[in-house]
Amino acid sequence: MTASPPDRPLRVGVIGLGWAGRSHLARYVTRPDVEVVGLAGMETALREELAAEHGVPVAVDRWEDLLQQAELDAVSVAVPTFLHAPATIAALDAGLHVLSEKPMARTSAEADAMVAAARRNNRVLEVAFNHRYRGDITAMREQVSAGAVGRVYHAKAEWWRRSGIPSLGSWFTNKEMGGGGPLIDLGVHMLDATLHMLGEPKVLTVSGVTHAELGPRGLGGGPDEKQAAGSAFEVEDLGVMLLRLEGGGSVTLEASWATHRPSGDDMAITLYGTDGGIELRTIDYAPAVVTLFATAPDGSEDVVLPVPESLGHTAVVDKFLAVIGDPSSWAEHDGTIGATRTRILEAAYLSAERGAEVTMSELTEKVEVAR
Ligand SMILES: NC(=O)c1ccc[n+]([C@@H]2O[C@H](COP(=O)([O-])OP(=O)(O)OC[C@H]3O[C@@H](n4cnc5c(N)ncnc54)[C@H](O)[C@@H]3O)[C@@H](O)[C@H]2O)c1
Repeated sequence: MTASPPDRPLRVGVIGLGWAGRSHLARYVTRPDVEVVGLAGMETALREELAAEHGVPVAVDRWEDLLQQAELDAVSVAVPTFLHAPATIAALDAGLHVLSEKPMARTSAEADAMVAAARRNNRVLEVAFNHRYRGDITAMREQVSAGAVGRVYHAKAEWWRRSGIPSLGSWFTNKEMGGGGPLIDLGVHMLDATLHMLGEPKVLTVSGVTHAELGPRGLGGGPDEKQAAGSAFEVEDLGVMLLRLEGGGSVTLEASWATHRPSGDDMAITLYGTDGGIELRTIDYAPAVVTLFATAPDGSEDVVLPVPESLGHTAVVDKFLAVIGDPSSWAEHDGTIGATRTRILEAAYLSAERGAEVTMSELTEKVEVAR
């Protein structure tokens, strides 16, 4: 289905020109039903280069100017996390559809305000959970949906790095700007993929633990140095959570930017079911190995599954455009899924602060806006 109004292409803007924003742009420019009419980002040379390359008429420093100066139907918001809520709400209030980067927001109050803005304006609000479109995750989800492992009673999700703090001293390591460390940055992807595979179970309680051992000593920095915000390392460098699910199931999740361990981006998700198990493992984004563990105790029936191609941001952008093209689906795409993830992460940070488990009913949805 085409996203554009019947008589012209959909006019799209991209706010934020880091890796994330450029990933959105890369897909938009391939779509014949889209015209990229605006870019916003602080890097003048890069912005001008991208505008020239793709013939984008409006290219400005700040998101506020883009919303004022460009004639837009939709925007991608790929700025540092503390700007997701203000930019998204302003765009929705201007009547635009919004694709926000993950994590949707720093807090559930911000996420709820974004959902409320989508609802009151009857516009689409999607969150870029590109990992759920990875081939390994798609393969696992299909197996679980087909009942290959029976009822999943425990899930274990991990994303580890040895030395991958996304720039010491940048907005990523500033609590006010990033909202947290690897738990909210990497963990949100693993949380989304896991809950998506499990069919969106209700989370009853969250226990969280955070550690900051390497970052505060200036250790564990990644190769990709961003502009320093001049701040100290204020977030965790390792976060852990335990979720209790309705019906008795459980999820554990570990995410770290920096630890003493083997190198690489080391990701795994394992689902333990009543009739089998299934696991994905991948290091440094190499094609993942997905194994289906059958009931034979010696492993003789286990199967390594074929893994389809990973679609990432291509699929995220395509999905956003497909939803825009189908007004009957707008109400279902109001950012609620992203807000659910934000609320769980907030509970984990609250639990870590308190040193005690947090009940999700403490953090109930506060969106009270009529559609
Ligand atoms: N989905 C993913 O896999 C993925 C990967 C990386 C980052 N992200 C998310 O994307 C967002 C951006 O991350 P990044 O790594 O690209 O960050 P970055 O720091 O590399 O880029 C941020 C961009 O935002 C721009 N910006 C900052 N303030 C602005 C303002 N007031 N107006 C307009 N532009 C402004 C900067 O100039 C820059 O172009 C974050 O929320 C991050 O969590 C998602």
